[in-house]
Formats: sequence, C-alpha cells, structure tokens
Amino acid sequence: MIHLTPRLLSVAAYVTKGSVLADIGTDHAYLPAYLIENGIIARAFACDIHEGPMQNAKTTVNDAGITGVEFILSDGLQGLEPHKDTFDTAVMAGMGGELMCDILSAAPWCRREGYTFILQPMSRANTLRRYLYAHGFEILHESIAKEKDKLYNIMKVRFTSNTVNIREVEALLGKTTDSEYYEELCAREIKRLQKMYAAFARANHMQPEQEKILELIKEIERYTCLQ
Ligand SMILES: C[S@@+](CC[C@H](N)C(=O)[O-])C[C@H]1O[C@@H](n2cnc3c(N)ncnc32)[C@H](O)[C@@H]1O
Repeated sequence: MIHLTPRLLSVAAYVTKGSVLADIGTDHAYLPAYLIENGIIARAFACDIHEGPMQNAKTTVNDAGITGVEFILSDGLQGLEPHKDTFDTAVMAGMGGELMCDILSAAPWCRREGYTFILQPMSRANTLRRYLYAHGFEILHESIAKEKDKLYNIMKVRFTSNTVNIREVEALLGKTTDSEYYEELCAREIKRLQKMYAAFARANHMQPEQEKILELIKEIERYTCLQ
C-alpha cells in the first residue's frame, strides 16, 4: 500500500474521482499510484524531466501491481500535448513556484477551460498566484498542509480567461483564511518581512522599499489578529 504524507494527501484531496491525471515532476509516482490504488482514478500520466525519477516511478507502479499509468519523459507539460484531449487534471507538486510559471508559459495550449490544475509550490507561492491571475487562471480553493513544522500551500486552479492584477497581500496569503494553519502562515510571512526590513535598515538605503514592507506587515496584521 502507498502511504502519502500530509502534503501529498492534501494534493490528493483536490483530485476529483474519475478524473484522468497528469502528474508533472512525478518522481516516485506516489500520487498517481495512491489514487489508482484507492480507486479514485483509473488512469494517469506520470511525467518527469529526468530518467532517474522516471525509473523510480516505474518501480513504484510495478511494485504496487497497478495498471493505468503511462510514463512520459518530458520537460513540464511538453510531452503531454499529443494527449491534451485525454487528461483533465494536471498536478505540479514539490517544485518551485517560478518553475511552475515557466512550465505553464511554455504550454499555451493548456490555457483552456475544462482543465483543473493542482499546484503545490515549495517556494514563491506569491509569484505563482500573481502569475496565475495575470494569465487568466483562477484559484478556486486553497489549503495548507503542515509537515515537520513546514507549511505547504495547495491550490486548485482553473483557466477562465479573465485576467486580474492581485494585491501583494493577496499574493502572499492566498485564499487560505479557513485553514487551521492560516494564523501560522501569516505569522511566518510577518517574520520574513520583518527580517527583510531589518536587512534594508542595516544597508541604510532603499527607503521606498522599506515603507512598502512596513505597509505590507500592517496589512497582514489587519487580515489577522496578530497585532
Ligand atoms: C522534489 S520532486 C517532487 C516529487 C513529487 N511531485 C512530490 O511532490 O513529492 C521534483 C521532481 O520534479 C522533476 N522536475 C524538475 N523540473 C521538471 C520539469 N521542468 N519538468 C518535469 N519534471 C521536472 C524532478 O526531476 C523531480 O523528480
């Protein structure tokens, strides 16, 4: 049996029963194997840019004795274009937010209604949220998973074609207000911004940047009771 940790379990929770999944950067293919083993999906594409992770994926699937997984060695969504009418949900988990933006930019064909994207950035969640809204995607739901003191954002996203410029505070916090870890996420962001402010103060320059950081801290405090 495949066991997922809370981060990938939260990703799995956003996968609709019966969907056909493309797992980009699959590595061990734990996510598709878990979803097939538990009868949530029957088919998946396990995609990775590197041969080693692809071999890991094949080993997991063989050991689990499951069928329905097709392996694609490719950069991002590139190798999926010939299969674009056969999957409906693409997952990118465990990669940097900026890499996810690059992967989405390199595959303009994926900007169509009907696809669901489940994204779990390891960094730069704010850059990813800003990119999504500026390029016609909408974040429908978000959750936060916690593993060993680290918080992870998980986003369920659709393409709508409406472009929106979101405010920095929205880019930083996302749609996570109903998460049990929301206050912790806000506290973590405030701490990070305070460190950034102190670094600018030590360098004794970039006054407008410092003011922006202070304003952002105040805004996050207003969104919470962390005052
Ligand atoms: C840290 S692992 C994440 C594995 C799994 N998705 C998870 O969340 O546990 C990142 C994987 O992404 C793959 N990767 C990195 N850049 C990629 C790209 N441009 N296209 C496809 N896969 C990529 C790496 O080879 C690696 O296997």
